[in-house]
Amino acid sequence: MAGSDQLKITTLELGKHQDEGHLRHKIFRRLLTGEVNVSGKWVADLGAGPCAFARIAREFGAEVFAVDGRDERVPEDIEKQGIHFIHKDVREFNLEAYDVVLIFGLLYHFELDDQIALLRRCRGKEVLVDTQVYCPDQVVRFPVDEWQHSLVQLNGYEGILYPEKDNPMASVSNRNSFWHTETSYFRLFTTCGFNNITAYRPLYLSKHGIRSFYRLLPD
Ligand SMILES: C[S@@+](CC[C@H](N)C(=O)[O-])C[C@H]1O[C@@H](n2cnc3c(N)ncnc32)[C@H](O)[C@@H]1O
Repeated sequence: MAGSDQLKITTLELGKHQDEGHLRHKIFRRLLTGEVNVSGKWVADLGAGPCAFARIAREFGAEVFAVDGRDERVPEDIEKQGIHFIHKDVREFNLEAYDVVLIFGLLYHFELDDQIALLRRCRGKEVLVDTQVYCPDQVVRFPVDEWQHSLVQLNGYEGILYPEKDNPMASVSNRNSFWHTETSYFRLFTTCGFNNITAYRPLYLSKHGIRSFYRLLPD
């Protein structure tokens, strides 16, 4: 995969996993054990959905605020689990108070301008991202739809336009979203004020293609 000299790559020893969800939770636990200290910190889990990652952050001692534009998948007893739920579009959510921001399964549901605006508002914080990565060489192996074949250049970024679906996991309003190549993500993260970027390996496969976790720090 194309990358950058300044993108750090960390390979995680993860052992076996049952399915994609289990693997993602394992990666997050592994990050909280070895790399990211959330204990006593204010963590915002953006686009939290069923709040599985919020719960894990809570287990590790964080004060957790789960934010989602939908509440139908949020467990009814979420407050009893010690997690604050905020029903709001994250594009209008004030992030100033938070130390750590989780953007899992969400960035690739946004248009480019909204991605830039959100990441700029995270400047100075520790940010973890889990997102689809557009890998042109993988499309041949995992062909799904026509849109996967149309690499576009957009304001200096490179990727594909993904047509948002009408389901509880999709974007709450925009109709298209932008999936970057890894080189383009790197440019996005640095442009938004993050100069210390780690990509975690292995890359993993969702039903729509390749994904990766990233850790973004200001320096
Ligand atoms: C693919 S799910 C990811 C859920 C969870 N973070 C995970 O990784 O398993 C995307 C979530 O983001 C929420 N979402 C999408 N656009 C949003 C927006 N603009 N503001 C708030 N939540 C949004 C959806 O309602 C959905 O719960």
